[in-house]
Amino acid sequence: MGKIWAGRTNGTVNKIADDFNSSIRFDSRMYKEDIKGSMAHATMLGATGIIPKSDADKIIDGLETILNDIESGNLKIDFNAEDIHSFVEQTLTERIGDAGRKLHTARSRNDQVALDLRLYLKNEVNEVKLKLKELILTVCDKAQQYKSAVMPGYTHLQRAQPIVFGHHLMAYAMMLLRDIGRLKDAEKRLNISPIGSCALAGTTYDTDRNSEAQMLGLYEPCQNSIDGVSDRDFCIELCSALSLIMLHLSRFSEEIVLWASWEFKFIELSDDYTTGSSIMPQKKNPDMAELVRGKTGRVYGDLMALLTTLKGLPLAYNKDLQEDKESIFDAFDTVNSCLSVFCGMINGMTAKTEKMLLAAKEGFINATDLADYLTKKGVPFRTAYKTCGEIVSHCINSGKTLDQITIEEYKSFCDNFENDLYEAIDLQNCVNMRRSLGGTCTESVEKQIEYVKKSVTAN
Ligand code: ARG
Repeated sequence: MGKIWAGRTNGTVNKIADDFNSSIRFDSRMYKEDIKGSMAHATMLGATGIIPKSDADKIIDGLETILNDIESGNLKIDFNAEDIHSFVEQTLTERIGDAGRKLHTARSRNDQVALDLRLYLKNEVNEVKLKLKELILTVCDKAQQYKSAVMPGYTHLQRAQPIVFGHHLMAYAMMLLRDIGRLKDAEKRLNISPIGSCALAGTTYDTDRNSEAQMLGLYEPCQNSIDGVSDRDFCIELCSALSLIMLHLSRFSEEIVLWASWEFKFIELSDDYTTGSSIMPQKKNPDMAELVRGKTGRVYGDLMALLTTLKGLPLAYNKDLQEDKESIFDAFDTVNSCLSVFCGMINGMTAKTEKMLLAAKEGFINATDLADYLTKKGVPFRTAYKTCGEIVSHCINSGKTLDQITIEEYKSFCDNFENDLYEAIDLQNCVNMRRSLGGTCTESVEKQIEYVKKSVTAN
């Protein structure tokens, strides 16, 4: 295929330079969006009389068959072409003759590529939103299953207060719900149509940009042609939203890796989401969680690459902008694969509730409840706090837990202790008493599940 821009030069480019310049290896994935965009453009050109209606119809038919042929495998994309836009236009002209040469009227590859990318990412965003929903619902199911399973909650990775596992899981559901919200917000600025901005300055033809935007399912045309061809904020916003998704998955992964270790043994991952070792026969490794944690760095890298590419770039189009695609595509590919594997991994995860309870019994995680008990008996909290600290120290010295020391021992620390203290420090009670909004009691977890499920279906 020759160059569509041959004219001023004969279009012969040094082979190494030509390969360097070509983007078809990575922009060919936008073939459908390129064709749909061109169909809308041809429709507009025909409807406004910028080109004869009969030519527009020929173009649209030709594009339709190109799309069908690519999808059925009858037409192979030529990787020697400069980019997907040239490939489609040249194939069209080869097939339908001179009418094909009219398609690029009142258009430039600069607004064309900006359009293709927006349309492509629109679908990608939908895919990620769907996967997020699926994962959120899976997390909700697990939370439902473990809404009463007591475990230690941590601060500083030190046992802190008793919680239920379902409550811990729902924290992740909340993060993922915000991730959907961020994507939806970014969509407001993504679904804007740059087509008709042309090279940078608009056009002398009497185009109808509104109808083009409408045909393509976009909200409205952009209001400045220079901005239209040079804006890549949408890539950065999306990549930033994707980075946060990865951050959340990475925190979740880290906990899964910890919980699956012999040191914790709070969970068991299903065999089909773990791997073995080539040398150590006993190993069952949480590779999926580790890989998700590892791939987070990739997506941050994509974000950094995009930010850096755009930084200091003069208006309007510059070839640097071609670099946007590999980064944003990689970020979406990575997030999509991580979300798919995560859903299966969580689905197959079982909690070792006895191990969790055992861990909750050690570490004095009911010490706050003991202090609260005294406070409710009229002791000022700071005094109660100090007394309970001394009792914990006494327990550590005598190798006991808070429920193992006698009422007489308690009374030697403070007169206000009575027999009902044992009820107050019972772990299940400690959890059930945390009834504040968003707290860890089972009913609160149930409410959270309901809230999240409602929000997910409303989205
Ligand atoms: N492959 C190019 C890109 O991805 C398409 C736009 C080319 N425009 C140009 N003026 N050379 O940005």
